[in-house]
Amino acid sequence: MKTSLIALVIAAILIAAGAGYMLWPQEPVELKESKTEAGVTPGIEQANLARIEVGKELYAENCASCHGANLEGKTSEWRRPGADGVFPAPPHDETGHTWHHDDQLLFNYTKLGGVGLMALNGIEDFNSGMPAFEETLSDDEIWAVLGFIKSTWPAHIQDQQRQRTEASKQGG
Ligand code: HEC
Repeated sequence: MKTSLIALVIAAILIAAGAGYMLWPQEPVELKESKTEAGVTPGIEQANLARIEVGKELYAENCASCHGANLEGKTSEWRRPGADGVFPAPPHDETGHTWHHDDQLLFNYTKLGGVGLMALNGIEDFNSGMPAFEETLSDDEIWAVLGFIKSTWPAHIQDQQRQRTEASKQGG
């Protein structure tokens, strides 16, 4: 009786993990890596307070130098490229553009960097100031940083970004 119950639970977890995986949009990036031990792809909704704290520290160490200690970006002129053709680091607060993207794109952008993400989409000559973090941060750490960034947004911005994420998961 006990053994069969355990088997049932394991089966349920495996099914949930598989279903979660299939819900993601068809991205060329290997998504299996971004699962937690629990078998759930850690979207930001799942980021609990402890993870947000971790994300906050990781943000200060890895992102704040460019995106600002208060997520304010390098300059208010972030929509225009500099003389070198590279865009300044944009804000990640609600005045920025970050929340217009779904979770997976934010993740890919952070993991692969601007050049890596564009190359994935066949654009080879993109000049980007956004470095790749795949060598520096684990997938879980990237999700934690994104969780922290999202936690700073007002509720209505979080809602809009969540809707975009849901829409793109369904292939829309
Ligand atoms: C060396 C400077 C630098 C650092 C450090 C940096 N970024 Fe960026 N980031 C940029 C620049 C510049 C852009 C603008 C787009 C581009 O040039 O590709 C950008 C763009 C982005 C975008 C896309 C925003 C949008 O609206 O399209 C995301 C997401 C992002 N960064 C996340 C992060 C995270 C998370 C970290 C820390 C783990 C980080 N960045 C660290 C410079 C940086």
